[in-house]
Amino acid sequence: MKSFLSYMGGKSLLAGKIIQKMPKHTCYCEVFAGAAWLLFKKDESKVEIINDINTDLVTLYRAVKNHLEEFIRYLKWILVARDEFERFKAEDPETLTDIQRAVRFYYLLKTGYASRIKNPSFSVSPLGRSSLNLLRIEEELSAVHLRLARVYIENMHYAELIRRFDRPETFFYVDPPYYGYEDYYGNDIFHREDFRILRDLLAKIDGKFILSINDTPEIRKLFKGFNVSTEATSYTASGGDKRKRVSELLIMNFEPAASTRTRG
Ligand SMILES: C[S@@+](CC[C@H](N)C(=O)[O-])C[C@H]1O[C@@H](n2cnc3c(N)ncnc32)[C@H](O)[C@@H]1O
Repeated sequence: MKSFLSYMGGKSLLAGKIIQKMPKHTCYCEVFAGAAWLLFKKDESKVEIINDINTDLVTLYRAVKNHLEEFIRYLKWILVARDEFERFKAEDPETLTDIQRAVRFYYLLKTGYASRIKNPSFSVSPLGRSSLNLLRIEEELSAVHLRLARVYIENMHYAELIRRFDRPETFFYVDPPYYGYEDYYGNDIFHREDFRILRDLLAKIDGKFILSINDTPEIRKLFKGFNVSTEATSYTASGGDKRKRVSELLIMNFEPAASTRTRG
């Protein structure tokens, strides 16, 4: 199935290639979940955990998992309009109930330009319809609700999550902000220095991991010694139609099955 969110840096296109390389595991742990494209596309694992530091996003997952009817009831009569967008944007999430907070974040992501997290702006175009279709919302979110039913949803810093869930049978999917775009998802949640911290942490785990990241000389140097494969992918730079071809690195601490191996 698909994720219910489009998200900056979402791995809708790369998910298939990552899934092919995934090792056997009993615990699946998505460290930087975002829209969790991998979780939604892969088969279910025995234990599944998704995590993100963004409390608005985690509140949305929890609302869809635990309070779907209430969430839909709130959304049903909301207009897709610039005024409504600005009203939601001006609200302080800390002053809202969990359902209101989840609805606010969902609305801003769905009706905003290019799914921007920081300073979103209303999206309207003569070329396409809004991606928020209130007529189909019940159907779409019911499937997501069922998929999340047995998934643990965490709201921690990545380092705490990795330490807490590391076991030989754990597989971590690690999808941090891109190198050079560390503050894309918020200020002071991820810094350039975190790539080194992440590398040192991942070098010592008992479990297995795949880390996806943009291909830069700095990242190649930092992760020298790990198993690295290069994958071609593309993304729309600013929500427009033009797709940009880029190369992405998949960094692992294991050898994937022979049929999928390509050295970077
Ligand atoms: C590249 S996105 C993940 C995209 C996701 N794989 C998908 O397919 O949609 C990176 C995510 O990391 C989260 N993040 C940033 N810093 C973090 C931190 N220190 N700990 C945990 N999550 C963090 C951001 O909120 C963002 O949602």
